[in-house]
Amino acid sequence: MSSKSSSAPHIPIMVNEVISSLEGARLKVFFDGTLGAGGHARAILEAHPEIERYIGCDKDPEALEIARKNLEPWAHKVEFIHGDFSKLDEYLNALHVKTVDGFFLTSGCHLCN
Ligand SMILES: C[S@@+](CC[C@H](N)C(=O)[O-])C[C@H]1O[C@@H](n2cnc3c(N)ncnc32)[C@H](O)[C@@H]1O
Repeated sequence: MSSKSSSAPHIPIMVNEVISSLEGARLKVFFDGTLGAGGHARAILEAHPEIERYIGCDKDPEALEIARKNLEPWAHKVEFIHGDFSKLDEYLNALHVKTVDGFFLTSGCHLCN
């Protein structure tokens, strides 16, 4: 995200749909490749207290700082990666994670006016 879009509010979309899609799943390790401000992460962590490791990645350091604050109650579970989700394998290897139980990517929509 550019510095211009960093200042835009991060509003998680379709949160109910995301949570419904994960209903019934037992998640231990979860990878969020577009952590943003952590709105989806918060909802997923609330719905899935069984999660032990929530690995959140974002290429925007400012978004990661916001997420760090928003996810304070889960600080013991969340690991933050500043990087590109396309390097998922590299990051998971470095964290000694062999498999994830779920992963999540979002794209955004930005208003130009
Ligand atoms: C729509 S926002 C994510 C919203 C987020 N799930 C939330 O709840 O706030 C999209 C995010 O994806 C990040 N992003 C876009 N492409 C990326 C990439 N290739 N690797 C990592 N992060 C990326 C952007 O920096 C931005 O923070």
